[in-house]
Order: sequence, then structure tokens, then C-alpha cells
Amino acid sequence: MGRNLITENDISADETILLFRDAKHFKKLRKKELAKFSHRLVGRRMLLLFYEPSTRTRISFELSARNLGIQTTIVESSYSSAMKGESLVDEAQTFDALGFDVVVMRHPEIGAVKNFSLYFTGSVINAGDGINAHPTQALVDAFTLWERGLLRSDVNIGIVGDILNSRVARSNARLLNKFGILPSFIAPPEFLPKILQGDNQLIEVPGELGYRVHVMYDLDEAIEKLDVIMMLRVQRERYESLPMSIPEFSRRYQLNSGRLSKLKPSAVIMHPGPVNRAVEISDDVFADSRCLINEQVANGVPLRMALLNFLLE
Ligand code: NCD
Repeated sequence: MGRNLITENDISADETILLFRDAKHFKKLRKKELAKFSHRLVGRRMLLLFYEPSTRTRISFELSARNLGIQTTIVESSYSSAMKGESLVDEAQTFDALGFDVVVMRHPEIGAVKNFSLYFTGSVINAGDGINAHPTQALVDAFTLWERGLLRSDVNIGIVGDILNSRVARSNARLLNKFGILPSFIAPPEFLPKILQGDNQLIEVPGELGYRVHVMYDLDEAIEKLDVIMMLRVQRERYESLPMSIPEFSRRYQLNSGRLSKLKPSAVIMHPGPVNRAVEISDDVFADSRCLINEQVANGVPLRMALLNFLLE
């Protein structure tokens, strides 16, 4: 069986740092210089299997693979036989038979990617399974912090907004915990799962997919102390009806000029994208020199190159 990345538990802290060193190396190269890697993994085949929409994740995996000479094929769910009722197990066997070495998969159900990996011989990378995990986004975010010397236990990281539906928040918490960091989840009770209810409390989610976080309900109370503020998208598509109106949410949790002025000058602003402008962030954020949102996107390519190289070499 190939080596998988289904959750952050599949990679150690030491391996993560090795990955970051490789990613840094790839990042420094100009486009022309990247050509010398274009034969590194030639003959390998990667399938991008997406049962949910994606822009950044899908495109950066595709660019990363091509930079390493990997042949890529994209399947979106509406074009696959899943629509004809083919099960994930049968799909896994089909993709094996077609000779794919790695499958990058996004699926709306928790555990679907893990399940698929049990029947697929090559490597499987989780590009998001429901609200559970999105390990490569967490790696991109941690890499962005590491490059700035901010992946340290004394750094105060606040993850803000729709925690309830955020696989990015969960993956970040697990990965940050590995580096001795206790992030804060900052959200109203309406946007927190049952297990994370409790203002100003340290909460430990038990189990294999567990993590430890500090929970805070009030962003205005927390913001001045933050070194890193990671905003999350309100995932409207995952709600039948929102637990709080958008104007109310924005009034209390939007990062805007008022709150930017309270944020430390040395702090950095992150968001995994896609952003809902005027919901969780205002236009002022992109104009702020502390904003790393576009850098996170750019880091997606060297980080995923390093990861493919690590899993397939
Ligand atoms: C995130 C996702 O799909 O989980 N996006 C991403 O991959 N960068 C976050 C989101 O959809 O809000």
C-alpha cells in the first residue's frame, strides 16, 4: 500500500519540518529553474477526484504535480460513474486498474477518503472530507507561519468564525498541537459544535481525531492579544438555515477597519479562502500589509510539490 495523508496524524512533526525545508527550496526557484524537476516523477499518474467544489486546492495540486512531471487527470463527481451508483470501493479498484499512483480526493462525507484508501493500492491524499480534515491546507498554513518564525508555542493563534463546519480549523488545531501550540477557537456558541461550548475554557476533544483548544466567544476581548488571526468562511452551503444572521455575525466577528486597528502591528492575517467579502472580512483586510491570504495561496504549490515528492519518492 502507498503512504497516505488522510489526517495530520499521518505525518510526524519531524517529517513536517523536512517537508517545509523542501517546500522552501521549491519556493525559491524561478519558474524556469523548476524545469529541472520536471522529470523527477515522470511516469507517475495522479488522479484528482473531487466530489465538492475547489479552486485553490485542486489547481495547486495540479500545478505541483506537473512541475514534477506527474501526469494528472481530473474527475469531478458529476462526470464520474459515482453518479451511476458506483461505490467508492469499486471506484478505488477501478482507479487501481487504471494505474494511478496517487489519488487526491475531496468528499462531503467524514471518513469517505479514509474508506477509499482502504481499497486503493497507491497513495491517497485527503483534500477535505466533510467537516473533518483538510491536512494539506493545515500544512500550507503552518508552512506560512514557519517561514516567518511563528510556528512556536508562545505564539497566540486565533481561529475565528464558522468553526462548526470547518475542517480547516480542526486540521489546523491538530497540526498546531503537534508543535506545542494551543490555538484559540473564537466564535459564538451558535458556530461551535456541542463539544466546544464554554467561554474562556481549555477544551480537549478526545479520540483519534481529537485536539486541544482554548475556546472564546468574544472576538473583541481576544483580538489585541493575537499574533495570528485566521479568519474562516461562513460555509452557507452546509446550513439549511444559518444559526445567526449574517449582519449579526459580521457586527460581532468581521475583521474590518475597526478591528484591524486593534490588532498588533506585528500580527499576521490569514484565511484559507475562498473569502466572503463583507461577511467575515471587509475589503480593508486585503489592503493591510499584515495580510498573508495571497501568500497562503502561493505557498500551496511548493508545499504540495514537497508533499508529492515525499509520498511518491
Ligand atoms: C476550504 C475548504 O474547502 O475546506 N477551502 C480551501 O480548501 N482552501 C475552506 C472553505 O471552503 O471555506
